[in-house]
Amino acid sequence: MSNIMVLGSISTDFVVTADRRPETGETITGKDFRTTFGGKGANQAVASARLGGRVSMVGTVGEDLFGTELIENLRINGIDTSNVERVTHLPSGSAHITIVDGDNAIIYIPGANNAFDSARLQHLETELEKVELMVIQNEVPQEIVEAVIGLCFEKGVKVLYNPAPARTMDEALLEKVTFMTPNESEYKIMFPELSLSEGIKKYPGKLIVTLGSKGVCYHDGAVERNVPAYVVGPVDTTGAGDTFNGAFAVGIASGLDIEASLQLGNLAAALSVQKFGAQGGMPTLAELKENEHYEKTWNLE
Ligand code: RIB
Ligand code: NA
Repeated sequence: MSNIMVLGSISTDFVVTADRRPETGETITGKDFRTTFGGKGANQAVASARLGGRVSMVGTVGEDLFGTELIENLRINGIDTSNVERVTHLPSGSAHITIVDGDNAIIYIPGANNAFDSARLQHLETELEKVELMVIQNEVPQEIVEAVIGLCFEKGVKVLYNPAPARTMDEALLEKVTFMTPNESEYKIMFPELSLSEGIKKYPGKLIVTLGSKGVCYHDGAVERNVPAYVVGPVDTTGAGDTFNGAFAVGIASGLDIEASLQLGNLAAALSVQKFGAQGGMPTLAELKENEHYEKTWNLE
């Protein structure tokens, strides 16, 4: 398998479960509180690494206890952290999540995830020679996303761009990415004037829209295709999209075609939502292989 680099956020998730959300000025008693590992970048890196991906992470954490644990968690999952930096002027990133009836609402505080200077981009330029697929999301500053996509395009490095959370974006930049994976609501923000069918047709083999329990859709150049989800009763859907992206990246880096890579993404995502926490439930390759829906033809190692 070729090397995957994930550039993005590394955060601690503070997760509260309650029967409902309080009104302004109201105090209610909730049911449960936990801290779990999160951040879309780190989640996608962990999802890839658990499936055997050779992953290196580029990101920033604070010089605090959270930062130490966040890096340790990446290492435990077999991820190269030599490009994870620590800064003293900002705290580690965090996400404040409330779960009601299995659905989450999130306030994301970037903190150190926003610390990225141009000197680092220069260093990245040499690192890119070893990379086959770059995976990037929107929890780091927009100018970094744009610079990295531009750099990868120049160097011929494939880019999987998961535009989450949504931002409006210059279409010229989107021409430079290999794959783009918004969910339905992110899609609507990015392409307000195009119906789903029109959008995927405009970017065949590139634009993949995730539809939750309805699977994913894309256009293969000839026809519109839907790759169905594996139906499950979810325990916690936080990080399902990240698991999908991390597993899809492993498929592509292993030389599978789009369709097989999307099936792999869907299966990993279905397993991930059976356990609490963004990274809890992300399957290892061994777990995936035991599943009845695992295809031997994927031939993953
Ligand atoms: O995609 C889920 C992630 O996004 C969570 O782990 C949390 O960190 C949020 O920002
Ligand atoms: Na989970």
